[in-house]
Amino acid sequence: MSGLSNKKILLGVTGGIACYKSAVLLRALQTAGAEVRVVMTPAARAFVTPLTFQALSGHAVYTELLDPAQEAAMDHISLARWADLVLIAPATADFIARAATGQADDLLSTLCLATEVQIALAPAMNRQMWLNPVTQENLQRLMIRGYLCWGPDDGAQACGETGPGRMLEPEVLCQMAESHFSPGILEGVRVLMTAGATREAIDPVRFVGNRSSGKMGYALAQSMRDLGAEVTLVSGPTSLAIPSNITTIHVETALEMYSSVMEHVEDCDIFIAVAAVADYRPIQIATDKIKKNKEKQTLELVRNPDILAEVAATESPPFTVGFAAETEKVEQHADEKRRRKQLDIIAANKVGTDEGGFESDRNALLLLWQDGREELPMMTKSVLAHRLAERIAAQYRARI
Ligand code: CTP
Repeated sequence: MSGLSNKKILLGVTGGIACYKSAVLLRALQTAGAEVRVVMTPAARAFVTPLTFQALSGHAVYTELLDPAQEAAMDHISLARWADLVLIAPATADFIARAATGQADDLLSTLCLATEVQIALAPAMNRQMWLNPVTQENLQRLMIRGYLCWGPDDGAQACGETGPGRMLEPEVLCQMAESHFSPGILEGVRVLMTAGATREAIDPVRFVGNRSSGKMGYALAQSMRDLGAEVTLVSGPTSLAIPSNITTIHVETALEMYSSVMEHVEDCDIFIAVAAVADYRPIQIATDKIKKNKEKQTLELVRNPDILAEVAATESPPFTVGFAAETEKVEQHADEKRRRKQLDIIAANKVGTDEGGFESDRNALLLLWQDGREELPMMTKSVLAHRLAERIAAQYRARI
């Protein structure tokens, strides 16, 4: 395999138990043709010695920022310029936090500030640490600055727990590095998406809304972008950061989302409706705040357009992907919806269970298309988004 020939990869190893796997990753990258130099943080050296990486890579391992001997061999700025990709595997919660605040208190964090090439993080940590909102916020901050996040995986952890936070296997990380350098499967493909919830005003201070956080839509937009697509995201209000290199259009109501989608639909090859669009809106919006002077209050609602169905019914529709939230007979109901709305793929969600769903960081999906199906088990939304994006890309390519 020579998918990485002539590529220079700076492998950053930070202090987590998964760093014993980084030695296998180093070998895999070299076998794929890459030239690899290794930088270790002090904490990583408590797990594996630099000698291991030196013996495998055939090069001295960089550990110190202020060591005249190491700086003489290749100073940190030259090292930052040397690389075509910086891959940090494992990336601990501590390292992610330090990178997110722009610290430069060791060689690896300094290199991250000094390099102009893309930095990919392969997070590895205990599931609670991964799910902690602080870690997620730090990661979001880095991702909007263009960092890539590869993984983590879901499963048994070194600490004895089970859940998200395992570093992706070395072979998978090596494949991701290879696809990073190959032209994306969706290069030149224009994708239009909706995400988040809509808000339907009742009066100047109140609205009808729903619990969608937008996390799945935003993660999927980033995964489609990472496969090379040109992505336009029509988003309802969310608290999420705007992802880099994605044209984001902010709307509030279902009607605004509908007009924005209809304005852009002719210029897209793939349309993905992830938004939780309000099916109904108040028939009238009160100009003044409604006072609580009645015992009973009735809100009269009128149907909103079904954006997804309208797109699928256009004269020459794009490749169309929709979501379905079902509480029972998931496959049967979702497949009926796919056929009724004439969708190329439907991604069905079982709602009303303890795990996954609207505000969660995890979810599971059942994907259905005309002559196939795929079950994606419970996993973090970022990994799930990547798997879904790959399936959409494969079916889209198979159709054209
Ligand atoms: N959708 C849309 N515009 C609407 C309503 C829904 O684009 N006004 C899209 C959603 O983004 C999602 C899919 O349609 O992709 C959901 O379809 P829907 O029929 O609303 O499914 P459920 O929410 O599962 O609805 P139902 O209660 O009818 O089962």
